[in-house]
Amino acid sequence: MNKSDMMLLCASPRREGTSAMLLRRISSVTDGELVYLPQRGFLDEMVQTMKQAATIVISGPCYINTYPARLIELLETASSMGGFYGQKLYGIINGGMPYVHTHRHGLTCLQLFAEQNHLLWQGGFVLGGGAMLDGSPLEKHMNHKTVVPAFDQFIRHIVEGTPSPEYLYEQLEPCYGKILTHVLARMLTLRVVKHIKKYGHDPNAPNWYLRERDLENDRVDPV
Ligand SMILES: Cc1cc2nc3c(=O)[nH]c(=O)nc-3n(C[C@H](O)[C@H](O)[C@H](O)COP(=O)(O)O)c2cc1C
Repeated sequence: MNKSDMMLLCASPRREGTSAMLLRRISSVTDGELVYLPQRGFLDEMVQTMKQAATIVISGPCYINTYPARLIELLETASSMGGFYGQKLYGIINGGMPYVHTHRHGLTCLQLFAEQNHLLWQGGFVLGGGAMLDGSPLEKHMNHKTVVPAFDQFIRHIVEGTPSPEYLYEQLEPCYGKILTHVLARMLTLRVVKHIKKYGHDPNAPNWYLRERDLENDRVDPV
């Protein structure tokens, strides 16, 4: 496959994160071209690049149970511009949670986009536990013994241009008991709090949107 035939689109704003790492793993086998979704400005040029590719692989993080808004914006722009003609589309979504159901919505978005815009949906891959990897190689994943062969099988489907079945990632979902789930959730929360503090914010401050809403209410209805 020629370099320009395959577009490997990273939908994460983090260029060294897990989404990009997974695409680099694919590019080491396919020579596909890694492109980053611009976080600002018009997206028309990106849509043109998508149209020129025979195969598109989109990899992004899970932000509140689906892909980041900027990717949804790209899909909406591509949808309104039109002009697709059977390009193969694969998707990857990774998140902190180890479950499939909390991430799958992203893949469903891509599938709907493909079906409504004359692309060929070829399936996707859900990777739980991606936050802990934080861009490290897949071999460092907590379940690397099952995750690595499954993801490499997904890559083989991309190389061969065949649809990738859902069971490849569904079989990876761990069955944690209640206690372990509680411990994992606590660990993730502590990690988030540490990061918030690291960037000089107060973890107990009200949510930004709620603050804005209250300010807006004060402006509309001053007391
Ligand atoms: C704004 C935001 C929302 C997130 N929402 C979720 C979520 O709903 N579920 C989840 O499992 N992880 C969530 N995460 C964690 C990311 O999906 C996770 O860190 C992912 O590995 C980041 O991928 P990247 O390294 O490619 O950027 C969220 C992270 C951010 C910054």
